[in-house]
Amino acid sequence: MSSSDRFGYEWDTYSFMDENYERQFRNWTDPLTEADFKGKTILDAGCGMGRNSYWPLKWGAGKVVSFDLDERSVKRARETLKDFSNSEIAQKSIYEIDWQETFDLAFSIGVIHHLKEPKKALQNMVRSLKKGGTLLVWVYSLEGNEWIPRFVDPVRKNITSKLPVSVVHTLSYLCSVPLWAFVKIFKGPTSYMKQLSTFDFWHIHSIAFDQLIPDVANYWSKDQVKELFSDIDLKDVSIKMPPNGSGWIVTAKKK
Ligand SMILES: C[S@@+](CC[C@H](N)C(=O)[O-])C[C@H]1O[C@@H](n2cnc3c(N)ncnc32)[C@H](O)[C@@H]1O
Repeated sequence: MSSSDRFGYEWDTYSFMDENYERQFRNWTDPLTEADFKGKTILDAGCGMGRNSYWPLKWGAGKVVSFDLDERSVKRARETLKDFSNSEIAQKSIYEIDWQETFDLAFSIGVIHHLKEPKKALQNMVRSLKKGGTLLVWVYSLEGNEWIPRFVDPVRKNITSKLPVSVVHTLSYLCSVPLWAFVKIFKGPTSYMKQLSTFDFWHIHSIAFDQLIPDVANYWSKDQVKELFSDIDLKDVSIKMPPNGSGWIVTAKKK
């Protein structure tokens, strides 16, 4: 089973919209604001169940095209976005997208660090942008998360990414229960942990599960992200941490 199949199980299980998703989306897309989505033609690459396409549509995007490789995710995205007539959803791989000079804004949240060929995916996204269009990508950061490659990766790579996904879902309680108790008691120590302390248990469980299922999960340093975005048809590349201090937000314009 590939990572996208395994994520398909996740999005099929956690297919409902939650009020915290708006806060998450604003965090992952900082410094963009509602006005940056209004009237724009937008691509959401690797959309999962569509939770990130939802907010631009709600804020008045002209059109949002969302796609994912996994069939169950696409089905759930169709349900999430069913009330928006300007939403278009497709099942396809980021390696095969063939839109050219189509979008004002192309974003991808939590996808590129799971890919075996991230640069190829980025090049395809950039090709889909109009000249001067905006690219926004959120990926895992090594900085602030050093403990994950150290302690979680060996378990993920050698055990949980190979086990049946339903078994991993149950095993995830071993992580989510202590994590939930920790963040509820300490409400920190990091901004990200503080944010987690405001989430319901199921949300923390889904995050723990999400960490354990993929076969590829790269936690990149800022320098590695800089390298990844070099030699691509981009200008004004900015690499910043989001307000909650976890991950890298890369924004850039197509040359
Ligand atoms: C961690 S999930 C993030 C989903 C969504 N962006 C979100 O934040 O809710 C990663 C997603 O990338 C999708 N994905 C993985 N490989 C892909 C590929 N080659 N093309 C398109 N989507 C892919 C998976 O199916 C999964 O839905």
